[in-house]
Amino acid sequence: MQKCQSCSHSLIKSFSLGKQPIANGFLKKEDLKNEFFYKLDIGYCKSCTLVQLLEHPAPVKMFNENYPFFSSQSSYMKKHFLAEAEEIYNKYLNQNSFVVELGCNDGCFLQFFKDKKITHLGIDPSSNVANAAKQKKINVIDAFFDSSLASKIREDHSTANLIYAANVMCHIANISDIALGISKLLAKEGVLVFEDPYLGDILKLGSYDQIYDEHLYYFSATSVENIFKQFNLELIDLKHLDVHGGSMRYTLAHKGQYPVNNCVHETLEKEKKFTNNQSLKNFGDKIQRHRHEFITVLKNLKSKGFKIAGYGATSKSTTVLNYCGIDNSILDFITDTTPIKKNKLTPGTHIPIYGREHLDSHTVDYVILFAWNHKKEIFEKETKFKKNGGHWIWHTQ
Ligand code: TYD
Repeated sequence: MQKCQSCSHSLIKSFSLGKQPIANGFLKKEDLKNEFFYKLDIGYCKSCTLVQLLEHPAPVKMFNENYPFFSSQSSYMKKHFLAEAEEIYNKYLNQNSFVVELGCNDGCFLQFFKDKKITHLGIDPSSNVANAAKQKKINVIDAFFDSSLASKIREDHSTANLIYAANVMCHIANISDIALGISKLLAKEGVLVFEDPYLGDILKLGSYDQIYDEHLYYFSATSVENIFKQFNLELIDLKHLDVHGGSMRYTLAHKGQYPVNNCVHETLEKEKKFTNNQSLKNFGDKIQRHRHEFITVLKNLKSKGFKIAGYGATSKSTTVLNYCGIDNSILDFITDTTPIKKNKLTPGTHIPIYGREHLDSHTVDYVILFAWNHKKEIFEKETKFKKNGGHWIWHTQ
């Protein structure tokens, strides 16, 4: 039986999404033979309530020089990170602050601090995205963050007034060591701010596609409080965010340094309803029913001769396609704007991926919006497809 990554208690298996490939493991034709699969099972810790994967591939299989996710691909996300940086700066920082970002990607967030000439340091193990940040003259270390790197940064620079991480904390296997590293690196009055997809939204929206190899944890305020209190860090504020299909932004500080906002107490109370294994089991049953309905709809459309494509070769789409068994016999192709994904095949299901222009040159009746979390941005620019009689499909509520 697996142990909780945070508190080492035994985990209970809640439900399974079956055999899955690496979510971002887009393939060239010649790589088809060596494809790696693992079992995507979801577990629950009764002690700290952390929802987590029971099995996960080694980090280098996911975060390497081929990592295909660039934060700047979405203009909404760029705006979001700028607004975040400005808000956090105004609330907690000044010109003399030292800002550290874990998983800085191509530097969307740190750009604000670089432009303000504030001392900053990004840490990212995926060399291609780290290089994109370096090209923007943002200071980056190409490495995995852990407690020994935290000590080294403290020695080489100073303690940090802000440690920030967006869609990163849920990726890190040894969360206890990370929390220890953060507690060492964080200045006395410093804040840790991080955001990740929120368990409450996943359960509410039925967005089981948020579950894939890179997301080892599905945080709630309850589990975040339990993880970090072991290192004397206290949850002082929360903010629900609309990004990434519903996220929560957690603000923590050394215990007693800041008052705890009322919204923390209120959210902890509300979460009692769903931070238990029964609600996860119910969710597992619900998505099994969804799989059946989704496949039936697609097969019906196909049998009537309609052409179906996908929009956004997201990591999320890997979970949906493999869980539902949707392959090239159902979907003709998927479009994506990320250059590194173009002309590759989807992991596990081997559907060809083309650039966005492919949708204009090929007649398609239905498009599955796999990048549903960018619905607003995409619908604003993709008016022609609907005007021409095309239909969008998405699977979340
Ligand atoms: P995203 O949903 O942010 O993440 P994940 O891969 O973690 O599920 O990824 C968005 C993907 O969709 C990315 O590959 C770029 C693509 N995309 C488009 O093709 N067109 C668009 O207009 C947008 C916003 C994204």
